[in-house]
Amino acid sequence: MTDPGPDADPLAAWRRYAGPCVLLDGFHALKHALRFGAEVPVAVTGDRAGALALAEELAPDVRDALDGLLAEVGQEAYASLVPRPHPTAVAALAVRPSRAAGLRALAHRPRRTPVVVLDQPRNLGNAGAVIRLAAGFGATGVVTTGPLDPWHPTVVRGGAGLHFATAVERLDVGELPAGPVFALDPEGEDIRGLRLPDDALLAFGSERSGLSRELRARADHLVALPMRPQVSSYNLATSVAMTLYHWSATGDAPRVP
Ligand SMILES: C[S@@+](CC[C@H](N)C(=O)[O-])C[C@H]1O[C@@H](n2cnc3c(N)ncnc32)[C@H](O)[C@@H]1O
Repeated sequence: MTDPGPDADPLAAWRRYAGPCVLLDGFHALKHALRFGAEVPVAVTGDRAGALALAEELAPDVRDALDGLLAEVGQEAYASLVPRPHPTAVAALAVRPSRAAGLRALAHRPRRTPVVVLDQPRNLGNAGAVIRLAAGFGATGVVTTGPLDPWHPTVVRGGAGLHFATAVERLDVGELPAGPVFALDPEGEDIRGLRLPDDALLAFGSERSGLSRELRARADHLVALPMRPQVSSYNLATSVAMTLYHWSATGDAPRVP
């Protein structure tokens, strides 16, 4: 029997790929994934005309790719495929990049942009927001330590399809890529007097208990963000945002065109 192929029956293709692939929930996640080279074997919509009109307005660079990919399945079938229907009625499945490729990207020298390390993060939404930040600043990657899966569907949703724009892997502290570790901690040296090198590992502690003993032992510098006395700490993702901004403003990060 000949293989009908994913286009012949998008719902059968969805069932085939749903296990091994990553869910891209909504138009913007699919748009980002395509821009950063994700392999997308199936994409469905409950409103193909609406999705293509959105592409023409907001993302003409991927309009033709979407035209070739998006299969109209009707609102009801679309809604049955996703945990919570997205206002754009678009969903797709993308192939997760191999761990080997992620590790190669993280280990590549010279490293021209930092790696963000989240040490034992707990909150899936924070992890997604950090991946989005890392993609925006062109960071080499985001590494998590501990049990949280940085490819969990909730993290992918928070990352808005930008897992494909930066390397995302889980590692033990002992496996971190080479490079100077600047670990963020309110007891550290004021960041305003420091220049963060492009090959830095920028490490952040968990929401609950801060930096682990292992990470502290691997740290070369402890760095503090300015904060008034009596405030105990900032949110994890906002701490990453401030630190990446500081790196971009004081280092050799490429300028916005
Ligand atoms: C929510 S905070 C952790 C709070 C935790 N209760 C503690 O005891 O550290 C999460 C992480 O954000 C970073 N962070 C938050 N505020 C910071 C500050 N003022 N200076 C440096 N890092 C900070 C640190 O890496 C911290 O481990």
